[in-house]
Amino acid sequence: MKNIYLVGFMGTGKTSVGKLLSKKLDKEFIEMDDFIEKREGKKIVEIFTEAGESCFRKIEKEVLNEFSTKIDSIVSCGGGLICNDDNAKVLLENGIVFCLTASAETIYTRTKKVTHRPLLNVADPLKKIKELLNQRASYYNKAHYIVDTDNIPKEEIADKIIRILKNR
Ligand code: S3P
Repeated sequence: MKNIYLVGFMGTGKTSVGKLLSKKLDKEFIEMDDFIEKREGKKIVEIFTEAGESCFRKIEKEVLNEFSTKIDSIVSCGGGLICNDDNAKVLLENGIVFCLTASAETIYTRTKKVTHRPLLNVADPLKKIKELLNQRASYYNKAHYIVDTDNIPKEEIADKIIRILKNR
């Protein structure tokens, strides 16, 4: 089977749903940000502060191109990965793309206690979340399937994705 790519904004549950899917479907799970951190020997926050966001985006694109030659994996993608025309094309052509969504308020609640996301380390994270959601909407809407996660247990979200895959 093609790779299953989980895309969508930070805090929409891509990693936890991806891990569940990997167990339930017995497929390899790859967390793209973890992969980048191991490859670069640096945390994502360090890459952003030391080399800048554009350098991170370049690395992200290279890693996606490496993964696109693989098959049968479940890949949790960084929230900004699909927000680039070339990356969106690679994702959509090589994989089955699920975009997980949640409201700005839910995302804020889920992300406010952690500091590993450089884009949200700002004075008013909720405002930033709303701005980025607006800017990115047209990219997230390109996904093959959109799956809402607001107030839905991870287990149910994973089962819904499995049902979609079985009925394709
Ligand atoms: C980003 C999301 C992060 C990470 C980086 C940038 C984004 O991944 O790739 O901080 O641009 O939305 P998660 O969505 O896994 O938090």
